[in-house]
Amino acid sequence: MRILALGDIVGTQTVDYLQAHLWNLRKREKIDFVIANGENTSDIRGICARDAAALLDTGVDLITLGNHTYGKRDIYDALENATRIIRPANYPPEAPGNGYTVVCVDGWKLLCINVCGRVYMDPLASPFDTVDRILERERGGYDFAVMDIHAEATSEKLAMAHYFDGRIAVMFGTHTHVPTADTQILPQGSGYVTDLGMCGPQNGILGTAKEQVLEKLRTFMPVHFHVADGDIRANGVIFELEDTKVKTLRRIEF
Ligand SMILES: [Fe+2]
Ligand SMILES: [Fe+2]
Repeated sequence: MRILALGDIVGTQTVDYLQAHLWNLRKREKIDFVIANGENTSDIRGICARDAAALLDTGVDLITLGNHTYGKRDIYDALENATRIIRPANYPPEAPGNGYTVVCVDGWKLLCINVCGRVYMDPLASPFDTVDRILERERGGYDFAVMDIHAEATSEKLAMAHYFDGRIAVMFGTHTHVPTADTQILPQGSGYVTDLGMCGPQNGILGTAKEQVLEKLRTFMPVHFHVADGDIRANGVIFELEDTKVKTLRRIEF
């Protein structure tokens, strides 16, 4: 089985870009399942229900989210009923949505988990304990697990990867919008990369218009961020599995 994980989707122009390219790529690379982080789809802050539906129409099978999960109000209800969108599992129980789901791909049951880090981010519940509990609760109900670790600090992501090595087959980081060059098979057999990167316009700063980011960083005045313009590129990693084990993984850009 081949799983494609895509980095944070920035802006609806990127949804259009994926609509034009992702189905062809799926066919060419024989991809069975696509998981993408959609937290920046609707003008950087969050994802509205309409844009989520459009993203799921491009060839993305499951959307994960992050610290911008609740940026658009109309996603709250959609999250409660969604089967193809998950949000970080370590938000308080009152927060709308689900932190994991089990999806069926080619007869295999995939436990897909989304979790947020806490270093330089909101002080959510422990990602370690939260995911431990999910694995315990779902034990016997899935063939292998996949996890999006949405976090700022590379150390925290790598620490989580080693903690869950051998228990979660496919692990990747999101949130920084910059791809890392450390695709690897960990000692206990899990496939891992610290950050997938971003799917979005290149002529900006992490997908945001550069003038706005510069104004913010130079003046410390409140600035409303919008999506940058220019050419779009998509970053991701393809994990190739044999049964429930990752055999190879490689970065792609299209
Ligand atoms: Fe992001
Ligand atoms: Fe984020």
